Amino acid sequence: MSEVLIPEIVAYDGEDLAARSGRIVVLVDGDAPTSLGARRLDRLTRGAVRRAMAGEAWGRVKPGEALELAYPAGLAAEALHLVRLPRRTDVATARKAGGTIARLYGAAPVLALVETHPRHADLILGLLLRAYSFDVYKSGEKKAKGAVTLMVSDVPAAQASYHAALALAQGVFLTRDLVNEPANVLTTTEFAHRLTGLRDLGVHVEVLDEDELERLGMRLLLGVGIGSECPSHVVVMRWNGGVAGEAPFALVGKGVCFDTGGISIKPAGGMEEMTMDMGGAGVVAGVMKTLALRGAKANVVGLVGLVENMPDGRAQRPGDIVKSMKGDTVEVINTDAEGRLVLADVLWYAQETFKPKGIINLATLTGAIIVALGSEHAGVFSNNDALCGAFLKAARAEHEGAWRMPMGQAYDDKLKSRLADMMNVGGREGGAIVAAQFIKRFIKEDMPWVHLDIAGVTLLKGDTPTAPKGATGWGVLALNRLIADMFETTPAKA
Ligand code: BES
Ligand code: MN
Ligand code: ZN
Repeated sequence: MSEVLIPEIVAYDGEDLAARSGRIVVLVDGDAPTSLGARRLDRLTRGAVRRAMAGEAWGRVKPGEALELAYPAGLAAEALHLVRLPRRTDVATARKAGGTIARLYGAAPVLALVETHPRHADLILGLLLRAYSFDVYKSGEKKAKGAVTLMVSDVPAAQASYHAALALAQGVFLTRDLVNEPANVLTTTEFAHRLTGLRDLGVHVEVLDEDELERLGMRLLLGVGIGSECPSHVVVMRWNGGVAGEAPFALVGKGVCFDTGGISIKPAGGMEEMTMDMGGAGVVAGVMKTLALRGAKANVVGLVGLVENMPDGRAQRPGDIVKSMKGDTVEVINTDAEGRLVLADVLWYAQETFKPKGIINLATLTGAIIVALGSEHAGVFSNNDALCGAFLKAARAEHEGAWRMPMGQAYDDKLKSRLADMMNVGGREGGAIVAAQFIKRFIKEDMPWVHLDIAGVTLLKGDTPTAPKGATGWGVLALNRLIADMFETTPAKA
C-alpha cells in the first residue's frame, strides 16, 4: 500500500533560498516573475527566471506543467522548476500543478513556493493524488524519498486544505490499492476483511456469508461464485452521519475479484486485467472511507457483492436457469456476463433492506462501454433526470469524465428468453445499454437510480496528471461531492 505524502507546511518567511539544496519549485504565469518568491529567485539567479520566461521553451509549457532550470547559478539547489499556474485557473489545472510537483518527489528534497495562490487547496490534492505509488511487490531496497515542503503565506489555511485533501486522497488510495492488488492476494474474503478495517473510522460493517446469502435467496450472486474456492460475500457498510433514522442513500458495487469468464471463458491475452473487475466495489469502499474521514453529515449505505468467476466442475453452465432474490428467473446464456447477476441481487437486497432515497451502482460491467467511450468517460445510465443531472454536475466539477447513455424498451426487448423471465445477455449490439437494461429490471418503480459502467476508466495504461498508470480511483471524488451537494449543503433561501 502506498504511503501518503505528508508535506511540511511552513510560512513564507525570509529564508535564504540561495542556500537551499534539492529542488525549488515556484509558481509563475505570464512572461515575467511577479510573486514575491519568483522575484527573489530571479534576483538570486541574476535574472535567470526572467530570461527563462522570455524564452521560447517557456512558451511551450502548458498550464500546470513546468520548465526545469538545472543547476541555476546563484542557487545551491540542483534545479529550479518554473510551474506555469495562472492565479485564476480551474480545479484541474491546479491539481495538475500539484501533480507536476509530486513527480519531482524523489531523493532530493523539494521546496515549493505556493505563497498566496488562491487554488492552493486543489494543488495540494493534486500533489497527494499524484504521489501515490503501489510498489508493495517490488522487492529490493525502497529508495529513500526526501521531503516536500510547501511554503505558503497562510499556514493554518494550507494545513486545513491539507487535512481536507487527505480525507479525499485516502479514500481514493483505498480504491486504488484494492484495484491494483492481484487476485491471489485480494480474494473475496481478504476484500471483506479489509473493509472491516473501516470500523475503526466509525463505519458499521457487516459481512454476509454464503449461508446467509442462500437464506436471502441471492442465487444469481451465488451462481457466479459457485465455481470458485473463494466463498462469496456481501459486505454492508453503513455511515450514519446524517439525521438519525433518515433513509440512507445507497452505493452498490460489483466486486468480482477475478473474472475468468467462467465456463464461457475469456481468451488468455489480457485476462490478467480482470483483477480490476472489483473496481465498482473498490469505489464504494473508497467513498465510504472518505465520508467517514471527513465526518460527512449524511446517511449512506455502501454494499458490495464479492465473488470470483471461475470455471470448475461445479461452476455455473451456459443455459442454467437461476432464480433471483427478487423472484424473477434468469437464463444464463453467457457466464461471462456475471457482473449484472451479482448486481441484480445486491441491488434488490439494498432496496428491500434499507429503503434508500436513491441508488448509484458502479461496475466494470462491459467491454462495450470501452468501445463506445474509451477511457475518457464512464457510461452513465439512469431512470431519473434529477439524480443523473446531479451526478453529472458533480463529476464535471471533479473532472471525472462521465457521459450519459440512452436507455429504452427496444434494448430491454433483447433480453427476452424462450425459457425464463429473461436472459443475461442480448447480443453484441448496444451491449453496454442492454446490460444497463438488465440491471434496471431489478430497480423498483420510482427508485431514483444511476448505473455507472466504469470498465474503461478504472485502470489506465498511462499516467494522468493526478495518477500514475494503473488504478485511477475514478468516481470517489465525484460521489463524495454528490453526497455533499445533495445532503450536506443547505439550499440558499429563495
Ligand atoms: N468484467 C467484464 C467487462 C470488462 C471488460 C471490464 C474489459 C473491463 C475490461 C464483464 O464481466 C464481461 O465479461 N462482460 C462481457 C459481457 C458479454 C459477455 C455480454 C463483455 O463485455 O464482453
Ligand atoms: Mn465477465
Ligand atoms: Zn466481469
